[in-house]
Formats: sequence, structure tokens, C-alpha cells
Amino acid sequence: MIVFIINIFFLLFIIVCGFSLIFSVLSFAPWVPSRGRDLKRIFKLADLKLGQVFYDLGCGNGRMVIYAANNYKVKAVGLEISLPFYLICKLRQALNRRGLIEFKFKNLYKENLAPADVIYFFGMPHVLNEKFCSKLRRELKPGTKIISYAFKLPDWQPKIIDKPSANDLPVYLYET
Ligand SMILES: C[S@@+](CC[C@H](N)C(=O)[O-])C[C@H]1O[C@@H](n2cnc3c(N)ncnc32)[C@H](O)[C@@H]1O
Repeated sequence: MIVFIINIFFLLFIIVCGFSLIFSVLSFAPWVPSRGRDLKRIFKLADLKLGQVFYDLGCGNGRMVIYAANNYKVKAVGLEISLPFYLICKLRQALNRRGLIEFKFKNLYKENLAPADVIYFFGMPHVLNEKFCSKLRRELKPGTKIISYAFKLPDWQPKIIDKPSANDLPVYLYET
């Protein structure tokens, strides 16, 4: 009987993981990490100050969030809808108790982004649309930095486009 119940729980877990992975692909982006070699220039644009709040919308394995919290002494929040990646984030957080880190198993469209000083995302171009931009315009306070990796926001003038060479992906900096 106990083995049967464990099997049912395991099966449910696999189903929830599968559905959340499919949902994440359709909703914002599949898991493709930002390139490690680009972290320095991304965080140079972010120019985080002590005590600020950093958000990664769709934080994947949590690397950007942990990097922000550990290197800049900010509060770093990661939102992730895919259960396996969220669990990886929580594991990394447990092993890395240095910074002020919060991972939420949450749809990024359901989070109020008002507390953010800097938000970061790596979303697919077709989801960086008017609906997404109007959420940013509605919720973010004046002066919030928005950093988009690889793809630009429509109808929004970037303050900086960082692309050091033809082989590098662009990083777009916007400000509300
Ligand atoms: C392209 S990856 C970027 C990962 C990480 N931000 C990085 O730059 O390395 C996009 C992530 O967004 C997550 N995601 C997709 N849709 C989401 C949603 N609606 N809410 C929260 N996370 C979502 C995916 O599961 C995936 O981990």
C-alpha cells in the first residue's frame, strides 16, 4: 500500500514538472541560460547599489539571482514557473546562504513588480510584446532599470545597447 502511494505521488510530481515545463515554454521562454561570459556586462549596466531590489523574471537555475545577492548586497528575487528549475533554485539557495535571496514558484505575470529597482529577463521576442510592456509601465516605479538580454522591447527606446562585438548578444538597458 505504502509503495502504491509513493508511486502515485512520484507520478503526480512528474506530471506537474512536465506541465510546468511546457507552460514555461509557451508562456515566456524555455530554459536557455544567459551566457556566463556576459554576466559582468549585464551587471555593469544594472549598476546595483547596496539595499536595492533586483528581480529576474524567469530565473531558470537561479544563477543571476545568486550572483546579484552575493556580489552587490542587494535583495534578489527570482520568479520561476517551472517546478524542476524552481527546486534547483531552492537547492542552490540552501547551499548558498550568504545573500538576501527569495525564489518564488510563480508566474511572472502574476507578480507585482513595484518593489524592483532593477529587473532582468531573457524572454523570447514574441512575448516581449505590448501586453508585457504595459505591465512594466503600469507597475514599475520611476527610475527602475529594465535589462533585456538578447531581445529588445517594442516601441521602447533603449538607453544603452551593449554589444561589444559581432559575436556578442546585445543587452538592452531601459529606464522607466
Ligand atoms: C531563457 S530562460 C532564462 C533563465 C535565466 N533568467 C537566465 O538568464 O539565465 C527563461 C526562464 O523563464 C522561465 N519562465 C517561462 N515562463 C515563465 C513565467 N510565466 N513565469 C515565470 N517563469 C517563467 C522558464 O522556465 C525559464 O527558466
